[in-house]
Amino acid sequence: MARRWTNDLTHTDVTPERVFLNRRQLIAGLGAGSIMAAAGRVRAQETLDPNDYEDITNYCNYYEFGTGKTDPAENAHMLTTEPWSVTIDGMVERPGEYALQDILDKMTIEERIYRFRCVEAWSMVVPWNGFELADLIQMAGVREGAKYVAFETVLRRDEMPGVKYPVLEWPYVEGLRLDEAMHPLTLMATGLYGKPLPNQNGAPLRLVVPWKYGFKSIKSIVRITLTDQEPPTSWNKANAREYGFYSNVNPEVDHPRWSQATERPLGGGLFSRRKPTLMFNGYDEVASLYDGMDLKANF
Ligand code: MTE
Repeated sequence: MARRWTNDLTHTDVTPERVFLNRRQLIAGLGAGSIMAAAGRVRAQETLDPNDYEDITNYCNYYEFGTGKTDPAENAHMLTTEPWSVTIDGMVERPGEYALQDILDKMTIEERIYRFRCVEAWSMVVPWNGFELADLIQMAGVREGAKYVAFETVLRRDEMPGVKYPVLEWPYVEGLRLDEAMHPLTLMATGLYGKPLPNQNGAPLRLVVPWKYGFKSIKSIVRITLTDQEPPTSWNKANAREYGFYSNVNPEVDHPRWSQATERPLGGGLFSRRKPTLMFNGYDEVASLYDGMDLKANF
């Protein structure tokens, strides 16, 4: 397969793995007492009022395993990731249930070092291993008229203790426009830091879209559906005012409750200085996908 994209970042830019793995504890050090309080309330009441979503988004991670900062690390081992298959359906030529092993046999796994910008305004540089989503979609064949791609996370009540809490609607769902999905930057990740994906980071297969905020990276994907309708996304369903369909990194469009103009890179000291956030997280090559669109309205 011809190389369609090359890293501009190198291993010297990478956020230390230790920082990546412990970032939730580091972020907690920023004085996020209200977040822990919110997580406690979820357990106590088992229900949520809309304001609780605001606090909880600060620990976005893998809510199927719980909303506490260490829950995914403690519970995600319960997920069986082998064997795994992905159903590809909707407006495709060859719909069906594809065994992950068969997919991997056909794909070229490469390393991509990407900037990763979370909606809470911290950032990292992460080395992912994976293949281009475009190659997987092409395997199934795009049918005339398809405009969007919908994604779904596995839902296993017996393996996912967090899904008994209605913090989000389950299963977790995400979506991209077809041209976004087909862009060579859009990665299906199978590993990070040169190792297989840990369960808490979305094993065995997760999405990485480096010009969008981190919450678009849906984990443990079991279904990919091509459609002509804009698909629903979990965070938009939970709080449409704060989370739009596009979720492009954009320093000019603030989150309703905080500025998105700057970010705090994790690593290199406990917390390095804030730096300006770049449009599309610095991935200028995707700008043409949005020519003529009002990105304040389509946030
Ligand atoms: N995917 C599923 N299925 N469930 C989740 O709760 N959280 C999202 C995203 N994907 C989430 C998910 C959010 S809010 C973020 S910030 C990223 O995963 C975090 O991924 P990471 O922990 O690997 O950085």
